[in-house]
Amino acid sequence: MSKPDVLVIHPVRPNAMQQLETTYTLHRYDLAPDKAAFLAEFGPKCVAIVTSGHCELTHNHLAYLPNLELVACSTAGFEAIDLEALTERNIPLTNASAALCDDVADTALLLTLASRRQLVAAHHYVASGDWGRKGMYPLLSATRGNKVGIVGIGMIGQAIARRFTPLGVEIGYTARSEKSVPYRYFSDVTSLARWSDILVVIVPGGPATEGLINFAVMAALGPTGTLVNVSRGSVVDEAALIEALGGGCLGSAGLDVYQNEPNPAPALIGLPNVTLYPHHASGTVETRDAMSQTVVDNLAAHFAGKPLLNRAKPS
Ligand code: 8YV
Repeated sequence: MSKPDVLVIHPVRPNAMQQLETTYTLHRYDLAPDKAAFLAEFGPKCVAIVTSGHCELTHNHLAYLPNLELVACSTAGFEAIDLEALTERNIPLTNASAALCDDVADTALLLTLASRRQLVAAHHYVASGDWGRKGMYPLLSATRGNKVGIVGIGMIGQAIARRFTPLGVEIGYTARSEKSVPYRYFSDVTSLARWSDILVVIVPGGPATEGLINFAVMAALGPTGTLVNVSRGSVVDEAALIEALGGGCLGSAGLDVYQNEPNPAPALIGLPNVTLYPHHASGTVETRDAMSQTVVDNLAAHFAGKPLLNRAKPS
């Protein structure tokens, strides 16, 4: 029996790649020097795509893929993929949110505590000898009793809430509608920010959420508040963030994502009240392997005529 033809726009981890090589004829668009010619030659025979949500998959690409049945994406986010165009042709898109949920939630907690307890500055205080020279580091603020607002209460937002619960904090959230979760609902992000000491952002990127966290939201969070972003750089108005952090309207920020990756704005990274992580919330061997395995398993389910493990929903 011939192997199904699969277009690889972005490869998966080596172990998953090996599994794909055994089962499918892979067409390595990712390695092709002339992408347009490659797509024109091999696109028509491909029935599935393996990709990442950071790689463009547009209406134009899809025109070269008349036999496409499935797009399997190895990331949680998929804003570079035209889901509407896929839906028009009834082609399912799968993604990998479930695989990275725990690591992203851990990172939200890591950035929160590191920001509130000034881990990076305190590390330098010890390492530079300032502790010996100047004495005790300034007293900080306890997490216990804080109010934590979560912007987006999907699978990852709920995992974040579960991690915060044992810290003795109150939890609130905002989402398009009230969900059946045991946390206080706010219908808009500014009201949530006004109530919160810590605001954790975990909504999908893309036009619907661009600039959602604007200066008014940051000012509502206030001079002792902390903003944590583990979603997409586009969700936070970065010019406003620089102004708010620099001018004392916002206390601190813990950031995994930026508008300009991998070279975030110098005015942002130079601030003393930011804790920076290199878009690495899912960056563990276990999780990246699991994200890749989701792709393999979704392809296997599809070609066996079984239900897919998941289906990406429009944001
Ligand atoms: C990145 C992510 O894909 O899954 C997502 O949507 O943003 C991350 O897991 C990862 O950092 C590789 O770029």
